[in-house]
Amino acid sequence: TKRYNITLLPGDGIGPEIMNIAKDVLSLAGSQEGIEFQFKEMPVGGVALDLTGVPLPEETLSIAKQSDAILLGAIGGYKWDSNEKHLKPETGLLQLRAGLEVFANLRPASVLPQLVDSSTLKREVAEGVDLMVVRELTGGIYFGKPRGFGTNEKGEEIGFNTEVYATYEIDRIARVGFETARKRRGKLCSVDKANVLEASMLWRKRVTAIASEYPDVELSHMYVDNAAMQLIRDPKQFDTIVTNNIFGDILSDEASMITGSIGMLPSASLSDSGPGLFEPIHGSAPDIAGQDKANPLAMVLSAAMLLRYGLGEENAAKKIENAVLETLNRGYRTGDTLSDGKKLVGCKEMGEEVLRSVDSERSIA
Ligand code: NAD
Ligand code: IPM
Ligand code: MN
Repeated sequence: TKRYNITLLPGDGIGPEIMNIAKDVLSLAGSQEGIEFQFKEMPVGGVALDLTGVPLPEETLSIAKQSDAILLGAIGGYKWDSNEKHLKPETGLLQLRAGLEVFANLRPASVLPQLVDSSTLKREVAEGVDLMVVRELTGGIYFGKPRGFGTNEKGEEIGFNTEVYATYEIDRIARVGFETARKRRGKLCSVDKANVLEASMLWRKRVTAIASEYPDVELSHMYVDNAAMQLIRDPKQFDTIVTNNIFGDILSDEASMITGSIGMLPSASLSDSGPGLFEPIHGSAPDIAGQDKANPLAMVLSAAMLLRYGLGEENAAKKIENAVLETLNRGYRTGDTLSDGKKLVGCKEMGEEVLRSVDSERSIA
């Protein structure tokens, strides 16, 4: 048997509810593939603030760094919303991403045939969409300096941030974009705001330069405002999108809705060498937390990405993805994806049905 150490960071809100399910699904799919997981659960976000006074305790980061991969639920909640910047749950997540140097965030968005009717877009627009957003995750306006609060000439209070990218940061995420496109349909669309922002002008120049290393990939450029519109007008025109930290944040939430629900979309955050971080793209959903309403599938699919991109365990990853499809085929839906004729279930029951699907794959095989 193969053994892996996995750090679990359930976090806040619906985080613990969906993490429980992902953990069980990982264990079951792993055991069928001769994989044994050693899980270590650590605090991050609001739960860490309450426990230790900081949103990312040193121990959480060091345990995470020593593990083979990290699975994260979500962080944040009303309780900590008015905390100072350095005491926000979100700051803990950003410190974690920076600490792990996971600069490349893969956010796939595909419309599953089972969920076409859950999309808010017309069937003919949504059907067959299969795109990947490659989001730069450790730079840009999220981390740029100077930043802070101050006063202007009129003595008015100001808040300010800086969008900054260095060549090496653009080059390495561009390469991930090209490599990703190469393994898909060979089309890369770089999204920026190069008509206005210097950081985007450099972005476009570097992505264009890196393109010479990938003659087999067809590169296009698009301004972010147009991209937001094109995603709704004709999402099938996109294969792989590469973009900066903040545009990737926004466009991936937008893309999620094409697929039916943000509760469906997983992500992988990868570095050059260390362990990867795997999390759904959604947040802690405080409006439904503790009510057994959350869709656990984004979390379960993040566990599949952990197996594929974090551990190279393709068979176990496929097994989980197939189990999700099978569960949808059997008609189970949480409220966010419910459509006519489907069976409404809560978070827990959805998890049980996914486990049942993983189990039945074994008896078929
Ligand atoms: P959100 O993604 O938490 O929720 C947006 C909406 O989508 C809500 O109505 C929510 O109920 C719904 N939703 C989200 N996930 C769902 C799921 N799995 N199943 C069903 N419905 C789901 O975004 P928000 O409301 O803007 O933010 C809430 C908190 O989460 C904030 O504190 C924010 O900072 C944090 N956040 C954390 C992460 C993260 O941990 N990676 C990501 C985004 C937001
Ligand atoms: C995400 C979230 C985070 C981000 C927040 C919570 C810091 O929205 O993971 O998409 O903006 O990256
Ligand atoms: Mn986001």
